[in-house]
Amino acid sequence: MLKAQIAVLVSGGGTNLQQLLDAEQDGRLTHGEIVLVISDHADAYALERAEKRHVTTAIVEKKECADQKEFEQRILALLAQKHIDLIVLAGFMTILSADFTNQWPRRIINVHPALIPSFCGKGYYGLKVHEAALDYGVKVTGATVHFVNEVPDGGEIIMQKAVDVLPGDTPEILQRRVMEQAEWILLPAATELVAKTMIEDKEKAND
Ligand code: GAR
Repeated sequence: MLKAQIAVLVSGGGTNLQQLLDAEQDGRLTHGEIVLVISDHADAYALERAEKRHVTTAIVEKKECADQKEFEQRILALLAQKHIDLIVLAGFMTILSADFTNQWPRRIINVHPALIPSFCGKGYYGLKVHEAALDYGVKVTGATVHFVNEVPDGGEIIMQKAVDVLPGDTPEILQRRVMEQAEWILLPAATELVAKTMIEDKEKAND
């Protein structure tokens, strides 16, 4: 069966990557195949998760590049080598330029740990998102998977799931609950949905 070739871009622990790898292994991700994991941090634990599953890994660090353009060109070259169809940002902490995202319309998805349009955009990443939600005092937060365009966290929403904020929550406790109850469910489901649409479109085009 034809499968969308997927690259996952990561920066850190990679629990969302793990969920994608598990989804592929246990048959929830059937229309896509994770063939490349790129990290912008050499010490990201996500790289070990990929290696354990024999997925090709690559490191592209900003400090090794003259500027954002070179950083993105190196990533684009790796994507081309592997004939990637779909890019999944799973805890990738770099904002991609319009130059990059315009080359990949509706072919990049991202998981964000809040209900967009709350607590999103430049400066809202990782634990900072949950700190902001707690500071504001919202009683419900959640996660969003969306297409990536030139506006940080501004692309079309694919899936969202709400998660309760509970008394006594710290940013770390809330982050974990949002991951368990929302991100880890949504990201594999949205990846499968987008991969399936891509494959169906390819098959129609070949008819
Ligand atoms: C996740 O909560 C993800 O939603 C968030 O960083 C965490 C990465 O965890 N991403 C962003 O904030 C992107 N703006 P992980 O490395 O364990 O998947």
